[in-house]
Amino acid sequence: MMASKIKTIGVLTSGGDAPGMNAAIRAVVRMAISKGINVKGIYQGYKGLLNEEITDLNARDVSDTISKGGTFLYTARSSEFRTPEGQKRAAENCRKHGIEGLVVIGGDGSFAGAGKLAELGINTIGVPGTIDLDIACTEYTIGFDTAVNTAMDAIDKVRDTSTSHERCSIIEVMGRRAGYIALWCGIANGAEDILLPETYDYDEQKLINNIIDLRRRGKKHHIIVNAEGNGHSASMARRIEAATGVETRATILGHMQRGGSPTCKDRVYASMMGAYAVDLLADGKSNRVVGYRDGDWVDFDIAQALAMQKTIPDYMLRVAKALSI
Ligand code: ADP
Ligand code: F6P
Repeated sequence: MMASKIKTIGVLTSGGDAPGMNAAIRAVVRMAISKGINVKGIYQGYKGLLNEEITDLNARDVSDTISKGGTFLYTARSSEFRTPEGQKRAAENCRKHGIEGLVVIGGDGSFAGAGKLAELGINTIGVPGTIDLDIACTEYTIGFDTAVNTAMDAIDKVRDTSTSHERCSIIEVMGRRAGYIALWCGIANGAEDILLPETYDYDEQKLINNIIDLRRRGKKHHIIVNAEGNGHSASMARRIEAATGVETRATILGHMQRGGSPTCKDRVYASMMGAYAVDLLADGKSNRVVGYRDGDWVDFDIAQALAMQKTIPDYMLRVAKALSI
C-alpha cells in the first residue's frame, strides 16, 4: 500500500438527503482507511462543521449502513456558512481538527460551499447526492434511482384506482427546479401527460383538450405526472374536473420519495463515487466534483461543473407523448 501524504480527511452530507448517502459515507471511510488515512465524520453538514460536531469514524462505525436510507451523519442547511465569515470559521475548524481534505456529499449548493473551502486551503471534493438528477457535470446522481422507483410504485397504485373509477389523476412528484423524476416516472408509468418545470407553459386548455380527446379514444384513466416545481395540483384537479366532467383527484407524493433502502444502482454508484473522491484527495487533488460520464468515473473543477447547463432530453419527451396515445 502506497502511504498517502494526506493523513486525515472529513466527510459530511449537506442539503436534501438522498438514498445512498450512507453507502457513499461508508465508501469514503473504508477507502480512506485502506490507504492509511484517518476519517472524521461531520454531523449536520456545514452547520455541524461550524458547531464542531465532529467524530472519528472507523471501519466498524459504517457497518450495516449500506442498505439504510437517509444519512447517519444527518444533513442540514446553514445560512451562516453562506457568509465569508462562516466559511473562514469552517476552514479554521477543519484545521483545528486536523482535517486536511473534505468530502462533501450533496448538490450544487453544497458544491458552491466546497469551492469556498477549497479557496481557503482545505482540499475539497464534491460527490453528487440528490434525488433530482440535476447536476450538469454528471449523468448520474446518488438517490435518483431509488426515488424514481419509489415514485413509480406509488403511481402504479394510483393508476389502479384511477382506472377502476375511470378518473383523471394528477400525481405530484418531487423536483422543485428539475423535471427528471417527473419525466422518468411519466415514461415508466405510461402517463398521458407530463408537466416539467423546464417546459411548463401554463396552458391548461391543452391538458383539458387531451383528456377529452383520449376519453373519446377509449382511455379509462388519465395520469398526469406533475413536477413539484409547477405545484398547484389540487386546484388544477378542480379546474380540470369542472372543464371536462371527468372526476379528477390530486395526489402529492412528497418526502416519501427521499427515503427508503437504496436500490442496487444507488449503492454501487455511491460506493464508486465515494471511493473515487478519496482517490482524488489521496492524489493531492482539490476543488473537484466527481461525476459519471460515458461509462467512466470522472471529475471536474467545481466552478466549471457549476457553470455547466443540463437540459431535459427533448427526444424522451417526444417519445413519452407518442407512447401515450
Ligand atoms: P444542495 O446542496 O442540495 O443544492 P442547498 O442549496 O440547500 O442544497 O445547499 C446546502 C448548503 O450549502 C446551504 O445550506 C449552504 O450552507 C451551502 N451553500 C449553498 N450555496 C452556497 C454558496 N453559494 N456559497 C456557499 N455555501 C453555499
Ligand atoms: O432533494 C431534492 C428536493 O427533493 C427537491 O426536489 C425539493 O425541491 C427539495 O428537495 C425539498 O427539500 P426540503 O423539503 O427538504 O426543503
